[in-house]
Order: sequence, then structure tokens, then C-alpha cells
Amino acid sequence: MSIYRKPVIFIIVSLVVVLVGSVVSTFIPLFMPSMEPALEGITPYNPIELEGRDIYIREGCNNCHTQTVRPLLFETARYGEPSKLGEFVHDRPHLWGSKRTGPDLARVGGKYPDSWHYKHMENPQAMFKDSNMPPYAWLAGNRLDTSLAEKKMKTLHFPFADAEIRALDGKTEMDALVAYLQKLGRTKKPQPLAATTQGAATAVESPAVAEGHKIFDENCAGCHGADLAGGLGPNLTDAEWKFGGSDADLILSITEGRPGGMPSWKSVLDQDKTGKVVAYIRSRAKG
Ligand code: HEC
Ligand code: HEC
Repeated sequence: MSIYRKPVIFIIVSLVVVLVGSVVSTFIPLFMPSMEPALEGITPYNPIELEGRDIYIREGCNNCHTQTVRPLLFETARYGEPSKLGEFVHDRPHLWGSKRTGPDLARVGGKYPDSWHYKHMENPQAMFKDSNMPPYAWLAGNRLDTSLAEKKMKTLHFPFADAEIRALDGKTEMDALVAYLQKLGRTKKPQPLAATTQGAATAVESPAVAEGHKIFDENCAGCHGADLAGGLGPNLTDAEWKFGGSDADLILSITEGRPGGMPSWKSVLDQDKTGKVVAYIRSRAKG
């Protein structure tokens, strides 16, 4: 009366055994927390960032932009630290993308000031002459649809305050998108400061600002002072130029130089580095 003599029962029994094996070895681990490691300092999106993320998806930005830095030298040199699994724990769905018509955006948060993003989204060609990114100026005219904001936050189990939901009133889709872009690649964990001679610099700098800081110390501090307070060149924390000059003006002054003795940096600093220096200068502006 061996089971081996009964082919039909044998098939059924072996199928059950394989099925139980699959459930135990595949499906159970799928739901264990260790499958979703969260990197320390990674915080969920707040309501406006989450709305911005949905606009990013709606507009198909991920058809031209990736959000993952591969551990290859030519990528890390351009975009920064390679992406880690634990960074994407709050991304549902993830937006890694597969096509880079434009640059990777995984580390774009903090690279430029908000005002740069507003201008760039409105008219990319005004920032980079040969950009083939389409303009999204009309986003600034669209009021953000906030009807599902609270539901989205709850569905994703993201913590939020009612005030944050109310603060969405009157915001535009552009505001949300910029808030989302500024969140990319940023953690709450204090970043180690770039080596600096300033004892006072204890504020937490984003990676882009820290890089701008380093570039500044190497190239500009000699004339503008290590604390930006001036010397040969003017004080760069002054309200005087801060309110007069847009980021585009600042970038122009740096790339082209100024008649009063400011050298041109075109051949030394590329767009990316210039952007980071501007982010650093902005981060130090008073008031
Ligand atoms: C047709 C392809 C295309 C689409 C679609 C597109 N971009 Fe771009 N994007 C580019 C290119 C090319 C650049 C590089 C030149 C420039 O900065 O304009 C770029 C640059 C950027 C930058 C600056 C990155 C950096 O590090 O300097 C940001 C931010 C950005 N895009 C955001 C977006 C967002 C948000 C959307 C969707 C609303 C979007 N892009 C849609 C092609 C595209
Ligand atoms: C050789 C000395 C020198 C160096 C090095 C130098 N600057 Fe300047 N910078 C000046 C002087 C002088 C001015 C004032 C020129 C004028 O307004 O005509 C100035 C002006 C500026 C301004 C104000 C421009 C404006 O629109 O009012 C900015 C911003 C600036 N520099 C940034 C930088 C940055 C960033 C670097 C490093 C990449 C740098 N500078 C390096 C001497 C220098």
C-alpha cells in the first residue's frame, strides 16, 4: 500500500509539499521587516512633498530622469554617493526610472535654492541654453488639489499634523513639485562638515552645500574671507547684494566675473560646481 503506487495521490501530495515550501521560503520573508531596511535618518514625505511626488509621476518626469546613483565612478563623481536600498523605504512606487535624458535627480535636494527650481521649471532654457527639458510654467498657475492629501498620508502610514494639511491651501502644483525636489536625497541625519577653518560652522549642511563650502574655501575665501565677510572682494552675507541679485545674476557674476576685480570662473567651475557655491553663499546670507 505504498503511496508510490498511486500516481494521482502522489502528484497531489508532492504539489502540496512544494506549495508549502514556496510559501515558507518566499512569501513569509516577503512580509518580514528585514526585507525593508530603513536607512537611519530617512524620513517619510510630508504632505506637500507627497503631493509634489504625485505631480512628478503625473507629468512623467521619470521618463527623462532617474533617481538612483549606481556605484560606478563616473556616476558617483557626478551625482554623489551611490544609492542604498534603505533610502527607498518610503517610496511607493519607487521612481528609479531607466532612462536618463536629463541628469539623475536622486541627490538634487539642496543642490540649488528654491528660486532656482522655480525659474528652471518655468523655463529650463533660461538656465541652460541647450536644455531639451520642456517648460512647466503652467504648474505655477494650477492650484494644488488637496482633496486626497489626508487620505494619501494615512494610506501610506506617514505621520502628519493637521496644520500641515491646512497649510496646503492656496499652494500651487509648482510649490509642491519644488518641495518634493528639495527633499530628494536629503536625510535628517547631520552630515559631517567639510574640513573648515571656521570653528563657528556647526550648522548642518546638505551634501551640496557642504561641497559648495569646500569649493568656496578653495577658490574664493582668499578674496571674500573664510566667513564670507569680505576682504579684497565684498562681503557676501550682506543684505545689499542679497536682495538685489537673483540666483541667475549670482551665477552670471561668478562665471563671467565682474569689472571691479572679480575673476571669471567659467574655465574652472562647471555649472554643477557653480550651483553648489551659490547654494553655499545663499545658505550663509544673513536675515
Ligand atoms: C524630455 C526630457 C525631460 C523631461 C520630461 C523632464 N526633464 Fe528635467 N531635465 C532634462 C534635461 C535634459 C536636463 C538638463 C538640462 C537642464 O537642467 O535643463 C534636466 C534637468 C532637470 C533638473 C536639474 C538637475 C540638475 O542636477 O541640474 C531638474 C531638477 C529637473 N530636470 C526636474 C524635472 C522635473 C521635476 C520634471 C517633470 C515635471 C522634468 N525635469 C522633466 C530633461 C527632462
Ligand atoms: C581675486 C579676488 C577674488 C576672488 C578669488 C573671488 N572674488 Fe568674487 N569678487 C571680487 C571682487 C573684487 C568683487 C566686486 C566686483 C564688482 O562688483 O565689480 C567680487 C564680487 C563677487 C560677487 C558679487 C557680485 C555681484 O553681483 O554683486 C559674488 C557673488 C562673488 N564675487 C562670488 C565669488 C565666488 C563664488 C568666488 C569663488 C569661486 C569668488 N567670488 C572669487 C574678488 C574676488
